[in-house]
Amino acid sequence: MERLPGFRDFYPEPLPHTDVWSADARQYIFEQWRTVAKRYGFREYDGPPLEPLELFTTKSGEEIVGQMFNFVDKGDRHIALRPEMTPTLARMVAAHERQYKKPIKWYAIPQLFRYERPGKGRLREHFQLNADLIGETDPAADAELIALLIDTLRVFGLTAADFVIRLSSRNAWQDFFQQGGGDPKNEYEFFQIIDKLERNSPEETEKKLAAMGFSFAKVNEFIEAGKPSPELESILQNLAARGLAEFVKVDYRVIRGLAYYTGVVFEAFDRKGEFRAIAGGGRYNNLVKLISGGKVDLAALGFGMGDVVLLELLKARGLLPKFDAPMNVFVLIEDEKLRGISLKLVQSLRSVGFAVEYPLTPAKADKQFKRAQDLKVLHTVRAESDAYVRIRNLKTREEIVAGFGDVANHLG
Ligand code: HAM
Repeated sequence: MERLPGFRDFYPEPLPHTDVWSADARQYIFEQWRTVAKRYGFREYDGPPLEPLELFTTKSGEEIVGQMFNFVDKGDRHIALRPEMTPTLARMVAAHERQYKKPIKWYAIPQLFRYERPGKGRLREHFQLNADLIGETDPAADAELIALLIDTLRVFGLTAADFVIRLSSRNAWQDFFQQGGGDPKNEYEFFQIIDKLERNSPEETEKKLAAMGFSFAKVNEFIEAGKPSPELESILQNLAARGLAEFVKVDYRVIRGLAYYTGVVFEAFDRKGEFRAIAGGGRYNNLVKLISGGKVDLAALGFGMGDVVLLELLKARGLLPKFDAPMNVFVLIEDEKLRGISLKLVQSLRSVGFAVEYPLTPAKADKQFKRAQDLKVLHTVRAESDAYVRIRNLKTREEIVAGFGDVANHLG
């Protein structure tokens, strides 16, 4: 039986094959994400992996809706595996926002599902750090969130030479569109053309823009000028004050595909442009209102960072640590008469926090010792009698005999 295309098997290291993923690396990434999110005062939440289909058809936009894993359940409900977290977050916040002081700062690490064509940096399932800030309209909130995004990448050892945040604004594009005489009902379609500038041919883009009454040259001029809008200027100054200026640049080519974004938008890319976007996000000031049927109106912004591209980048830059199984102690059982007392020893060491291994069934002494070496434990411990144990430090080769109750003190 093969696994489905675009899905992953995660194995413990050392990996048995190049076609599988590292459960250790995944755990490492999650731990770093959590550490930084907490430093910024973000609290963890989660929601269900299955949601009513309608939650996503409301405002995520055509692209994501076309990529949905969806089905009708046994109760005739239209269901989707979540392709993104933001609508779930909007629903959860709207339901209980009164219980929380504003701004609400929350993060999650959901597994998301999109029926995309699998390729480099794109799978049908990925994990995504989501960090969102709800209930604050000031650009200071945008700057705080972008600072978090920068630190979430720096924590892995990535520097300004490795990645950049491309900062843009749908407000700036909206002004451009309105000043150019665009018909408001075509606005999202116009944004879609901008979103695909780097993917589509210039001829195709030119034709599509012309159909809306816009010249490609004018669009390019606006992008090349890259003049920060007042809100972007304020964000840039805030980040500069933190010493983070070198990590961001204004780039109006970024506009984001999702339909719900309303203001500042941004994406993180590797500097060399070898990989797909590492992360993306922005403001979505209307989504909570829309999803709550007008009951709750809260400004919001956030970003999502996937594990797939990040891992590719960390691998390429040699920034992943070595993952060893961190066992501390191996309890040798050479005399089966002492198995009972040895098991007691195993449990007592585990109960004070040591990672302990031992032979489950009778085994030759040299085999046991080899296993202890393979596990790279620092100490072996062997019961000598009901009262004494022999402790060996495998690095210094020192041996001592200690009383049963005293073993833990010699293992530090
Ligand atoms: P997104 O741009 O669709 O945004 O996804 C964010 C990141 O998730 C991407 O930059 C990429 O690293 C990763 N990603 C997305 N799709 C895939 C895939 N098929 N395979 C591997 N990685 C993928 C959102 O999802 C927004 N909901 C983010 C957000 C949160 N905006 C506000 N708050």
